[in-house]
Amino acid sequence: MDTVLVLDFGSQLAHLIARRIRDLGVYSEIVPFNTTKANIQAINPVGIVLSGGPSSVYDEGVPLPLPEFWDYVEEKKIPLLGLCYGHHLIGQHFKGKVVPHKEKEFGKATITLKQQKTIFQSLDKEEIVWMSHGDQVEELPEGYEIFASTETCPIAAMGNIQKKVYSFQFHAEVNHTVNGRKMFENFLFGICEAKPTWKIENWVETAISQIQETVQDKQVILGLSGGVDSSVVAMLLKQAIGERVHLIFVNNGVLRKGEVAQVCDWFENKFHFENFHMVDAEDLFLERLKGISDPEEKRKIIGHTFIEVFEAKALDLEKTYPNIDYLAQGTIYPDRVESQAGSGGKSSSKIKSHHNLALPDDMKLKILEPLRDLYKDEVRELGRELGLPAGLIERHPFPGPGLAVRCIGDITKERLDILREADAIVIEEIKQAGLYNEVWQAFAVYLPVKSVGVMGDFRTFENVCAVRIVESIDAMTANFAKLDWNVLERISTRIINEVRGFNRVVYDISNKPPSTIEFE
Ligand code: XMP
Repeated sequence: MDTVLVLDFGSQLAHLIARRIRDLGVYSEIVPFNTTKANIQAINPVGIVLSGGPSSVYDEGVPLPLPEFWDYVEEKKIPLLGLCYGHHLIGQHFKGKVVPHKEKEFGKATITLKQQKTIFQSLDKEEIVWMSHGDQVEELPEGYEIFASTETCPIAAMGNIQKKVYSFQFHAEVNHTVNGRKMFENFLFGICEAKPTWKIENWVETAISQIQETVQDKQVILGLSGGVDSSVVAMLLKQAIGERVHLIFVNNGVLRKGEVAQVCDWFENKFHFENFHMVDAEDLFLERLKGISDPEEKRKIIGHTFIEVFEAKALDLEKTYPNIDYLAQGTIYPDRVESQAGSGGKSSSKIKSHHNLALPDDMKLKILEPLRDLYKDEVRELGRELGLPAGLIERHPFPGPGLAVRCIGDITKERLDILREADAIVIEEIKQAGLYNEVWQAFAVYLPVKSVGVMGDFRTFENVCAVRIVESIDAMTANFAKLDWNVLERISTRIINEVRGFNRVVYDISNKPPSTIEFE
């Protein structure tokens, strides 16, 4: 399969580049900036993109590709595309001149194209792009031509047609660069001559045979959360090894309304998993959470208890199936690359660590991560391909510690039940208004505050429910959703009328940062 590599110089945008490329049907992987010649040789890419990054090429100790990288790329005539920092690296390496720019340029800019061919084939004379940089290539390297300029940046894009090396001062990977997709298309198909063979349906067959080859006649256990990643892993394993996959689904007592029944129904009755095991540990979790109101303490208790319960069930299963050799996990590509590169994205790898289980030591299980190369939207596409219902694939993210971090203060079954009712109303109304897939998360929070109200002739003194609905693309930042008042009014009226325990609803209008999405 044709592969295009992205060399990561510490840019948050490296993932966006790889996704753009994959969206166009070409497989793409991110590798660290100092990747070796041997690694590149092994992958044998048809093209390489040098990402942006926060550094300046002339500073000391900045990330630079290894000399053997440049030699190999030149020897094999591998097409290159440099973006922002990548542009400066190409300028510097091929002996042009890179200088600090007086003012940092940030935001939209209009470039005037000097060439409307190769990388800029079928583009307009003027294009809107996104700039974010402090440095500039001031003098072209030998053999290069200017491809585009702006008023303040004469070399906004350059290229060496013969060598198939191009670079842009701007970020073609972000949506603000209006025809960025077309530029990538030109690079991939015009310059790298890549074939668009990356499709999820092609990937499935290979993934299944790889699982079969790895697992052989052994058995696999998987912790099922009811979320999209672990569900997709379950379906993939079922296709690969049939009844030799054991699903363990733990009811930790802090799941949403109807969730336990729903997950059991899906996996037992609809998808017919023979070895689906629901462990009802609600009492144990709630007992341990009794009197605990510190958020981190709640998280710790839930995390440890989960591992304990999961381990006990796994060891129990091992008595009947001594050849359970593997533990499958729903790790996806960004989790893996973020923890490996250590640049940015720390919070998402932390989030994930809550889902990924520690190994039960006694069992010496080997890890199986079939989604390790996929992005979230690809996992969703795969889920659809494998026949998972939309209701499961499109579910909002739900934190590992569940409603415990939305039930502020003491956690009791009674308070959780009240919260579950209110939460279900929020979801129902958001779905009803056709907004469920438009927002990132929508939920209710039980506040430890009482307020006065009137119901008929009676004065009430009840709890306050906060409603939190946010828009986000990756949970790192989020804005509160500016919903139609009528939708919010319906949510509020229904919660107050239908849920015994709340007589007031407030809407959270804070953004992240400085707030967080969850309350705890
Ligand atoms: P915050 O509250 O940090 O949340 O803005 C960002 C995203 O992470 C989810 N979240 C968690 N997920 N365990 C998890 O598995 C946790 O402890 C946890 N805390 C927050 C949250 O729902 C949001 O999507």
